[in-house]
Order: sequence, then structure tokens, then C-alpha cells
Amino acid sequence: MAAFISSPLSLLTLFFLLFHSSAAAASHHLKLPLLHRNPYPPTPSDALSADNHRLSLLFSAVRKHLRPRLPVTSAAPFGSGQYLVSLNLGTPPQPLLLIADTGSDLTWVSCSACRRHCSPHSAPFRPRRSATFSPHHCYSPACNLVPHPKNSPRCNRTRLHSTCRYQYSYADGSVTSGFFSTETTSFNTTAGKLLKFQHFNFGCGFWNSGPSLSGPSFNGGDGVLGLGRGPISFSSQLGRDFGHKFSYCLMDYTLSPPPTSYLLIGSGKSKLSYTPLLINPLSPTFYYIRIESVSIDNVKLRIPPSVWAIDEYGNGGAVVDSGTTITFLPEPAYRTILAVFERLVKLPESANPVPGFDLCLNVSSGASRESLPQLSFKLGGGAVFKPPPRNYFIDAAEGVKCLALQPVATDAGFAVIGNLMQQGYTFEFDKDRSRLGFTRRGCSVAP
Ligand SMILES: *[C@@H]1O[C@H](CO)[C@@H](O)[C@H](O)[C@H]1NC(C)=O
Ligand SMILES: *[C@@H]1O[C@H](CO)[C@@H](O)[C@H](O)[C@H]1NC(C)=O
Ligand SMILES: *[C@@H]1O[C@H](CO)[C@@H](O)[C@H](O)[C@H]1NC(C)=O
Repeated sequence: MAAFISSPLSLLTLFFLLFHSSAAAASHHLKLPLLHRNPYPPTPSDALSADNHRLSLLFSAVRKHLRPRLPVTSAAPFGSGQYLVSLNLGTPPQPLLLIADTGSDLTWVSCSACRRHCSPHSAPFRPRRSATFSPHHCYSPACNLVPHPKNSPRCNRTRLHSTCRYQYSYADGSVTSGFFSTETTSFNTTAGKLLKFQHFNFGCGFWNSGPSLSGPSFNGGDGVLGLGRGPISFSSQLGRDFGHKFSYCLMDYTLSPPPTSYLLIGSGKSKLSYTPLLINPLSPTFYYIRIESVSIDNVKLRIPPSVWAIDEYGNGGAVVDSGTTITFLPEPAYRTILAVFERLVKLPESANPVPGFDLCLNVSSGASRESLPQLSFKLGGGAVFKPPPRNYFIDAAEGVKCLALQPVATDAGFAVIGNLMQQGYTFEFDKDRSRLGFTRRGCSVAP
């Protein structure tokens, strides 16, 4: 998912006031398992960012070998194309499953005000059962870091319980709103210890609606873990203590039993291919990369480079988004790629069209993988990303494989490298060095 760009908040002064540079040595890291859900064509969205807030880190005993990690698993059993991260929130800890989303900044969880006798359908996070939950006051500087609902009451500075209301939108029209708050969050580490972070800023979402948040892509999720580039994201808040780096490997969700992979905060693997991360001042949330050219079966396609560029209005470009399943490409590039695929595939087209896909093949005769053309992307800096065909041909029906690419209009949209395309690779987002690293080696192996 990608957050929707509304008013760009550039609170530079505030940023420096709040920036808590507890620049601990980046030799340790945080590691969380990743889970996944079934493919479901989502919509790309855009973003909104804000500034940040201090984070205090409670190290009980952080040593070099103490590598915190969060498990990530597939949401496929719930019928969605998302990857889920499990983490704890509150005191005592309440375990939650959140969608790992590099396309948005805000971390939020679905909240319920019930204290006792909660119905089985009430929201998963219960702030009233936590001793450490604290909503920000609407007058607090932190409250400027989030967008507010249009009709929110004016902040009364002297009133004690004027909570900070947030409203965060995604480009498909999904919206979450509630109280911007702080909590203690905790994670397992590789050493089997529990690491605690105090004053983690997140949204306690009392009102959540829209296709991304209630549809099949959300089933099984208790909220969103915002891993975007902006300062309020999970990775930015925790990253200060872990070198502003995080990495993940999204495992193939069609495998059974589903393998577990990890979201790792801090330094991970070393031997990676790198491409620079680009900055789009109009969308500070996103991790933009430059696509220089596309080849199919080693033949470079004739696509004008301007098709991939970010224009003066901040449109265009290509982002890497773990919260979007399918890959979206600019219309002209998509048409060219589709035409070449249609020409090169040796397999018969499926007799029954699958809605939402332009090219579906009948593989019931037992097509080998070699018979599918090989797509590759040449990225900025010269790195080549050459994913296997299973990353862009999905099983859409019994014996039918479809090309899992979608077009977006060049003047308003942007390309999205979705999580399906990222499967089987480790991706490392390095904010300090402004680069994205990737490798296919040892994806499932704990770094
Ligand atoms: C941490 O590990 C323990 C023991 O393996 C497990 O029971 C617990 O669910 C884990 N917590 C999280 C947040 O992953
Ligand atoms: C702010 O709250 C205080 C205390 O509740 C109240 O006396 C005052 O009138 C309020 N001010 C405004 C502008 O609403
Ligand atoms: C695929 O091809 C087989 C014969 O090779 C045919 O029986 C079947 O109906 C086809 N399925 C689709 C969806 O086109």
C-alpha cells in the first residue's frame, strides 16, 4: 500500500528539536519474522509524511550478538497478498500481526476501547489493558507529525484530555483514523531475549475503512507496520539505534509449509548488488529507484527513458513497495512489454480470460519454467534485477498462469515493484547511504 500525499509537512525545526540522536553503534540489529498472504491485486497508492519524535530505547543487555528480529509470514491463508510481521505492543505485551508496508510511514493498529467483556469481534489492540499506552496531547509537537481529520476540534491547549487525532489515507481510498499515541513495543531477538522500545509513536485506529483495510487484502492483519522513508515510520523510529537500515526476504508464499523469513532492523548481509535510492521531495515516504531499461530474453526493449523518470510535479518514477502485491508499470512500458511477451511465449493462451490480466497462458500441458520469457531490469548504478518468471507469472486458475503486471497512467501514477516481484530476494533499505541492496543468495537463511 502506499499512503496518500496530502499537505506535505516540512517541520524542519521541529524535526531538529525532536530528533533524539541516540546514535548507538549499529553493530546490533532487530530481526522480526515475516508472514505472507495470498495474492490479491491491490492498488498502488501514494504517501504522506511527517516528522519525528524521540524514541528512547531500553536496552536491557544489548550486546553485539543480540540481533533483534521480527518474524514475517504469508497472509495467503487469509486470502491476501500481504506479508505480516508479528510484534508486541503494550504492557503487558499484546501480540499483533501487522502488514509490512514500505509504501507508508504510519504504523497503526486497530484499537478497541473495551476493557472487560470484549466481544470476539472487537479490535485486537486494547489500550485500556496497557499500563504504558499514552495518547499524545493535541498541543504536543509530536501531534504535528501526523495529518489530522478535516473536522477535528480545535486544539485546546489547557484541556487535559485533548487527544491528538490523526487521519491517514491510502491512495485506494482506505482511511484509518484515531489517536496518535505512544506505547512500549517489544520484539524477540536472535539471542532469544526480548528487546523493549519505549515511546514508540503509532496510531491507535478506532475508525478504519476502505478496500485496503477491510477487503481481502487486509484479512488477518491487525494494522500496518509503516516502513517508509519518512521520520515517523517504524524503521526510522527504531533505525536511529540500528544504523537506519533494514532488510527483509519475502519467501515464496506458494510453498508448503510456508517458510518463515525475517524483517531485520540493522545491518544484515554484506554481498549485495546496489542501486541508489532516489529522493522525490513531493513523496518523501517512498523508496524510489531508477529503472534504466527493461530487457526480455536479453533483448533491450525500446522504451524511452523518460517513461521511467520522476517529472517536475513529482509524478512518475518507480518505488519498491512491500505492501503492494502486483507490479505496476507505466502504460507505454507495460504495452511494449506485453507485446513482446505475447510474441515470445510458446504456450497457448488460456481459453477463459481472467479479469484484470491481459496475458494468461494455458499451462495444463505441463509447461516448464524455461518456456517463459525472462524479464530483467537494469537499474540506476548498473545493477541488474533479473527475477525468475515465477515472480511475474502467477497461478490465476487451475492450469492457468497470468502475467502479473498492471499498467498505470504516466501523468499521475508511478511504477511500483510489488512484493510478488521481490520474492526470494533479500532487499536491504539503507537510508543513510541512500541505496537499496538486493541478492538472491541465502534469502531464507538467517543473516
Ligand atoms: C517470542 O518468542 C517466544 C518464544 O519463542 C514466543 O512464544 C513469542 O510469541 C515470541 N514473540 C514475538 C513477538 O514474536
Ligand atoms: C479550553 O478548556 C478550558 C478547560 O476545560 C476551558 O475553560 C476553556 O474555555 C477552553 N477554551 C476554548 C477556547 O475552548
Ligand atoms: C487448456 O488446454 C487443454 C488442452 O490442451 C484444454 O482441454 C483446456 O480446456 C484448456 N484450458 C484453458 C483454460 O484454456
